[in-house]
Amino acid sequence: QSLRIGLIPADGIGREVIPAAKRALEALGSDIPRLEFHELLAGFELFTRTGTALPDETVQILKTGCDAALFGAVSSPSRKVAGYSSPIVALRKELDLYANIRPVVSVGRNVGGKPVDLVVVRENTECLYVKQETIVRTESGREARATRLITERASRRIGKMAFDIALGRPRKQVTIIHKSNVLSITDGLFRETIRAVPDLPEVAGRYAGVALAEQIVDSAVYRLFREPEIYDVMVAPNLYGDILSDAAAALVGSLGLVPSINAGDEFVMGEPVHGSAPDIEGKGIANPLASMRSAALMLRHLGYENGASRIDKAVNEVIEEGSVLTPDLGGRSSTSEVVDAVLRRI
Ligand code: NAI
Ligand code: MG
Repeated sequence: QSLRIGLIPADGIGREVIPAAKRALEALGSDIPRLEFHELLAGFELFTRTGTALPDETVQILKTGCDAALFGAVSSPSRKVAGYSSPIVALRKELDLYANIRPVVSVGRNVGGKPVDLVVVRENTECLYVKQETIVRTESGREARATRLITERASRRIGKMAFDIALGRPRKQVTIIHKSNVLSITDGLFRETIRAVPDLPEVAGRYAGVALAEQIVDSAVYRLFREPEIYDVMVAPNLYGDILSDAAAALVGSLGLVPSINAGDEFVMGEPVHGSAPDIEGKGIANPLASMRSAALMLRHLGYENGASRIDKAVNEVIEEGSVLTPDLGGRSSTSEVVDAVLRRI
């Protein structure tokens, strides 16, 4: 039996860092099943060439022929482009990957000086990202509106995911991030639903040992920078979680270090938190560590803890040793030099 992995590098430095993750997996040898890779297409560049950003074939192969996947990054334009919508957002929906899990852990030196070890658990399917936007002309100018969807079902399942993750960590604490002082209906429902998770009959008291806290999103960002040690698992609606996890990445030195997985009940897709980084694309200096760590997270989620920790350990050693790092971490090495350093340690 083999482990079938879909590889979707997509755009920009996604194409430079996904091969690094692939090589890390290959280096594990007999710690994991035999690997079978499927290279799949998606992205904005594909859209400009062919008119489609996410071919049906990519979705079909993921659904029927893969156990898991790794996604690079997509160069979504900030302006509206007729006919285009983000393939990563569509994939999360198609594969019902309802949780975006982003561990942010400092190794060695880090920017704020305080050690960081937290996980942002971001709801991945709703909030403002349902992309129901309208614009109308009024007498006083254009008026744009967006729908923000929060459901009890999605809030409950992301809440359970957060509690389960907390159970597996030493501090066992969940902090709900919200703004229900202003958005009392939508954020109110998110907050209330998650607060009620430990009392659900089906969890049978399993979360009794998990401490529950909450924090308004703006002050959460402030406290994240001043006292990151107060956080363990932060659970947030889609938009706040997106912003929080990039902010947390700043604390550990670079977006190029922070991995994530998009997880559902049936499938998992690893994805570095960073984007396609057009400013460094093609220069051979993209940091491959977030992508390699995403492969480790994917393996851990699938139950291959040994393989996952071998990748993590090798990555951490390279960061701690400090002589082979890409420029985003103050180093002078190339992507491929960093990849080689990690592979040697694996
Ligand atoms: P970005 O994450 O691509 O880059 C932000 C800054 O971090 C840049 O200075 C970049 O050079 C640096 N950086 C990011 N990853 C790095 C790495 N691995 N090694 C070294 N430096 C790294 O965010 P930005 O510039 O706002 O967006 C660029 C494009 O990426 C946009 O089109 C955006 O839509 C897309 N994007 C895609 C995401 C995804 O695919 N999930 C997530 C975020 C942005
Ligand atoms: Mg983001």
